[in-house]
Amino acid sequence: MKYLAHQTKALTLSLLFLFITTTLLSQTYGKNGMVVSSNKLSSNVGVSVLKKGGNAIDAAVATAFSLAVTLPSAGNIGGGGFIVFMDADGEATTIDFREKAPLAATEDMYLHENGDVVYSRRRTELTAVGVPGTVAGLYKAHQKYGKLPWNELVDPAVQQAKNGFEFNWSLNRAAENFSDTVYPFMANYFLNDKKVRVKPTEIWKQPALANTLSIIRDQGKDGFYKGKVAKIIANHMKENGGIITEEDLAKYEAIERKPMKGTYKGYDIYSMPPPSSGGVALIEMMNMMELVDFEKVEFNSTEYVHIMAEAMRRAFADRAEHLGDPDFNLDMPLDKLTSKEHAQNRFDNLDMQKASVSDPTKYGQIYDGDNTTHISIMDKDGNAVSLTYTLESSYGSKTGIPELGFIFNNEMGDFNPQKGVTTTTGQIGSAANLIKPEKRMLSSMTPTIVGKDGKPYLVIGSPGGRTIINTVFQTVLNVLEFEMPIDRAIENMKVHHQWLPDVLTYEKDLLSPDTRKALEAMGHKTRSRTRLGVLMGITYDSENKIITGAADTVRPDGGAVGY
Ligand code: DON
Repeated sequence: MKYLAHQTKALTLSLLFLFITTTLLSQTYGKNGMVVSSNKLSSNVGVSVLKKGGNAIDAAVATAFSLAVTLPSAGNIGGGGFIVFMDADGEATTIDFREKAPLAATEDMYLHENGDVVYSRRRTELTAVGVPGTVAGLYKAHQKYGKLPWNELVDPAVQQAKNGFEFNWSLNRAAENFSDTVYPFMANYFLNDKKVRVKPTEIWKQPALANTLSIIRDQGKDGFYKGKVAKIIANHMKENGGIITEEDLAKYEAIERKPMKGTYKGYDIYSMPPPSSGGVALIEMMNMMELVDFEKVEFNSTEYVHIMAEAMRRAFADRAEHLGDPDFNLDMPLDKLTSKEHAQNRFDNLDMQKASVSDPTKYGQIYDGDNTTHISIMDKDGNAVSLTYTLESSYGSKTGIPELGFIFNNEMGDFNPQKGVTTTTGQIGSAANLIKPEKRMLSSMTPTIVGKDGKPYLVIGSPGGRTIINTVFQTVLNVLEFEMPIDRAIENMKVHHQWLPDVLTYEKDLLSPDTRKALEAMGHKTRSRTRLGVLMGITYDSENKIITGAADTVRPDGGAVGY
C-alpha cells in the first residue's frame, strides 16, 4: 500500500514536471535540429528541410521564404537583411543582402524646397523603397553553403501561399487597421476567395504571391531580378512615382562579408559588420561590460541599469558619428571602435552617481519601425544560422503590385535625411549614412552567433529598429555573464538607450518602481514600453549534443521547433 502511494506520488510529480516543462517554460529541446522563428508554421517548414537532410542554410532559406507568406508584416521577398553563419567547426561568415539606394537616388531626395524633411517620401511613398535584397541573399547563401536543391527550399512557401493557411488573430489586427483607403494596396491584401476580407480561422490563400514565388523557385535569383517580375516592378515604379528601374534590379548583388568579431571572457562573438551597426555596437558594449565587477553589481540593480544605459549611450553616439555602408566609407575606424582600449576610454568618464548628457553637437533617429523578424537555426551537425530580415516598418511601405502579391520595403528611411542636421529628438546628419546611388542604408539588425571552444554556443537576434542592438546585447550578457537559460535570458527585463533622444526606456512591469526612481534621481529621463525586442534564440550544449530553443512569448504565433 505504502509502495503504491509512493509510486502514485512519483507519477504525480513527474506529470507535474512534464506539465511545467511543456506548458509553463518556453524552452524546446532537440537532439537533431532546431528552428526558431516568429511563426510556427514556418519553423515547421525549416524543420522538415532539416529532416530531409538539409543543413542550417537550407532550412534558413526555406523558413525565410515561408515567413514571406505567413508573416507578411516582416517576412519578405521585397525587403532585405543579413545572415551570420557559423559552421560546426566555428568558422563564421556573413551574407549582406541589405537593400540599396536606386541609381537615381540623391542626397536631398526627401527634402522640401524649404529644406525640411518630407516624411511620407521616405516612409510610405514609392520613393521610400530600396532595391530589395532578400531573394539575392538567400540565393547566394544557398549557392555557396546549401545542400538540397533550390527548388525544394522555395516550394514549401509556394504551396503555403497557394493552398493557404489558417488566418490568425495577429494578421487580423493588421487587416482591420488597413480596412480604409489610406493604403489601397493593403486594403485589398487580406482577401478570401470571394474577394472579401478574410476572417480569423478561415483559410487565407495568396495566389499572386504563389505565382511570384513559383517563378523564383523555377528560375532562381534571376526570376526576381530579371525578366517578367523585374519588368512589372520597373513599370509600376515609373507609372507611380518610384525610381527603381530594371537596371537597378539587374545590378543588385548580395555580398559575403567577414563578420565583426569580439570576445567576452573567453567566448567569441560573431555579428554583422557594416552596413549594419549591430555588430560594432554589440562588441563595443560587451567590451565595456568586461570592465564591470559583477561581484559588486547585481543584475537589475540601479547600478546595473545605469551602467547599461551609459554603455548604450556611448556606443550609439559612436554609431551615429562613424557608421554607414563600408563600400562608401572606406575609413571607418572599426578596429578601434571594437577594441578593449576604446571601451576603457569610453568608460573613463563614467560617473556612477550621475547620468551623462547626450549632446547632439558632439555627437541617434526618431523613428523605429515596428517590424522585422529573426530566425535562429541549428542542424544535426552543429552548423548554425542567425538571420534577421525586414521591410523596415510593419508591412514596409504598405505598397506593392497586386499582380505580384508582395509588399515593398521602406528601408530608404534608414538613411540620414538631412546633411549635418543632428537633433535632440534623434535625427542624425552624419556623412557616413547620407544617401548616394547604390549605397546601402545603415541598419541596426544584429544577427549574432557566440562561439565557445570553437563551436556555436548561442544563436540570437531580434527585430525592433535600434532597440535590436540593445535587446541582443542584454540577452547575450544574460547568457554569458549571468548563465541564464535561453528562455529566461530572452524574457528578462531589458532597457534601451540610443544616445538621442536622451531617454532611458524600460519595460513596464519589469523594472522595480524604486529602481526607476533612483535612476531618475541620477538624472536619467525615463519612459516605459510594454516590451522590448522579439528575440528568437538557441543555445547548444556541444558536449551532450543538446539544442535548446526559445521564441519570445511576445509573438503568440512564434515557435521553437526541435526534433
Ligand atoms: O535595418 C534596420 O535597422 C531597421 N530598418 C529595422 C527595422 C525594425 O527592426 C523594425 N522592427 N521591429
